[in-house]
Amino acid sequence: MQSPRYKRVILKLSGEALAGSSGYGIDPRTLVSIAGQIKEVVARGVEVAIVVGGGNIWRGVAGSAQGMDRATADYMGMLATEINALALQDALEKQGLEIRVMTAIEMKEIAEPYIRRRAIRHLEKGRVVIFAAGTGNPYFSTDTAAALRSAEIEAEVILMAKKVDGVYDSDPLKNPDAKKFSYLPYIDVLNQGLGVMDSTAASLCMDNKIPIIVFNLMEDGNILRAVMGDNIGTYVGEVKQ
Ligand code: GTP
Repeated sequence: MQSPRYKRVILKLSGEALAGSSGYGIDPRTLVSIAGQIKEVVARGVEVAIVVGGGNIWRGVAGSAQGMDRATADYMGMLATEINALALQDALEKQGLEIRVMTAIEMKEIAEPYIRRRAIRHLEKGRVVIFAAGTGNPYFSTDTAAALRSAEIEAEVILMAKKVDGVYDSDPLKNPDAKKFSYLPYIDVLNQGLGVMDSTAASLCMDNKIPIIVFNLMEDGNILRAVMGDNIGTYVGEVKQ
């Protein structure tokens, strides 16, 4: 059997991915389907850590655009990621996987505090680790949390699960001639503002040479395809894979 291309990965799940078609909250059927995809990857012996967003419940940036203090709005977003992390933990445990939720904001009653060396030990023991509360700081996105945690735990790649099948030069929903990139250098993501991730996250990935695969989560089996090294979505890196 073909071996996976990557041994340790970070899966970045946006909050919206958990909402399914409703766009808000958590859709139990979507959760089950994502959990099933993750199980396939763990079964191949790949160490999986997940950074989950919170946009299906609350978006800090949107709150602050409506006049709320930005830091407060961002903390509310971090709490939203905790809700998603617990929902994911439940869905993954129901698949028979061992899960540890680690939070960047301490709340001992519901999750372990984030301790880097402990997170690595959990992964080595075959547990899926879910990182909640982003970086624990306002003004930083959960994409930046994915980049930071990847560097800290030495993940080989960030699997950026989206509702679209890669990065395009313009919005494919508005422009039928939009062209999909199969490979993008980091610098183009930064210079062209292609909306893959914010510039803080992109520059952290560039500085630490962490590749990113942007792919469509809605296509069943895609997480495994990405981990196996199949050519799906868009590969963002220093050199073409
Ligand atoms: P090992 O030390 O490798 O055996 O890891 P372990 O996670 O199984 O051991 P531990 O005894 O630390 O944890 C047992 C359970 O308690 C796990 O489900 C952890 O997620 C949970 N746990 C550990 N620390 C905390 C904490 O600070 N808060 C909460 N809520 N749960 C915790």
